[in-house]
Amino acid sequence: VISLAAKELQLESYVIGGFVRDYILQRGEHKDIDIVAVGSGIELAKKVSSLLPHKPKVQIFKTYGTAMLRAYDMEVEFVGARKESYSEESRNPEVETGTLEDDQNRRDFTINALALSLNDETYGDLLDPFNGLQDLSAGVIRTPLDPDVTYSDDPLRMLRAIRFASQLQFRIEKDSLQAITRNRNRIKIISRERIVDELNKILLSPKPSVGFSLLHKTGMLGLLLPELTALEGIDEIEGQRHKDNFWHTLEVVDNISENTNDLWLRWAALLHDIGKAPTKKFDENLGWTFHGHEFVGSKMVYKLFKRLKMPLNEKMKFVQKMVYMSSRPIVLSQEVTDSAVRRLIFDAGEDIEDLMTLCEADITTKNPRRYRRYHN
Ligand code: CTP
Repeated sequence: VISLAAKELQLESYVIGGFVRDYILQRGEHKDIDIVAVGSGIELAKKVSSLLPHKPKVQIFKTYGTAMLRAYDMEVEFVGARKESYSEESRNPEVETGTLEDDQNRRDFTINALALSLNDETYGDLLDPFNGLQDLSAGVIRTPLDPDVTYSDDPLRMLRAIRFASQLQFRIEKDSLQAITRNRNRIKIISRERIVDELNKILLSPKPSVGFSLLHKTGMLGLLLPELTALEGIDEIEGQRHKDNFWHTLEVVDNISENTNDLWLRWAALLHDIGKAPTKKFDENLGWTFHGHEFVGSKMVYKLFKRLKMPLNEKMKFVQKMVYMSSRPIVLSQEVTDSAVRRLIFDAGEDIEDLMTLCEADITTKNPRRYRRYHN
């Protein structure tokens, strides 16, 4: 239908971005399709709607020059091919109309710049000016342009790079990783909602430690979640050492992620030890102690979520409780009386009474060598 509509309007059209990437990777269904029209995306959307039997409503976003309609359980977004130029302070670029190549140039990664032709003579051809296909098969995240330009233009892309690396288990190419490290402070112009969106996607990826290690390596983690970086390091007094609570946390997150896809349980695992940085003490008789870290940690969860503008709802309360219970998860079912929190535990669909304990136990038994490296 899109092809036909574009033909009637005598313009070229292409499928671009995540749909093409996930189609090639055979990564399940991608519910959003991005269409580039060399011409007006809004006119194309209107034409497509008029040709569809149910004449879906076309939502027009005038400021962005884009349009969206829903059809066959999918969201189809239309944009006119464009050239973009950015200024220092803002993520909103100056936009001029352009060619397909201009439009591919403005994309974040080579694997997201792949376009499939919907035009008669070339229907189904892949337009791949930056060897995105090769990067897809090699598992590499690379920017089409100089990475300093791509990341500084739109700093959200630094988090997107890390998020894709974690979701797809790809590696970020060296120049790109260095550029993220150099440009990391620019993340401050990004809204907290978008940052949280990316953090959630990292947490929901198959092995969240991939993303969090990259956040740590590039210095982004200290900017976004300093409570976590504060857990890094092992101190030694009188020959006594404690575990590295940062790397330990990442192991717990990976372990819990093998057991549950629930985002809030994964947040709880990520934050379960954050009270340990401010409560750490060395006691001559007891050695290292983190007395009261559960209580302090649960207060910190509240502040952290507030800072990130995350809704302070039942789910946050659930995370707080889990953090509070983190050292005593066995008694969770008796101690948790709040019905909202109970329901969440039920919704999580897992027997989580002692999931945290299991996760920690798993680390010691399954992986004794790594455990010793980080924990002693
Ligand atoms: N894009 C970009 N820079 C951004 C966001 C998006 O260049 N900061 C481009 C990319 O080409 C991307 C496309 O817009 O593929 C669509 O973006 P989006 O829907 O956010 O992501 P997807 O790639 O579709 O992936 P996902 O749905 O998994 O987020």
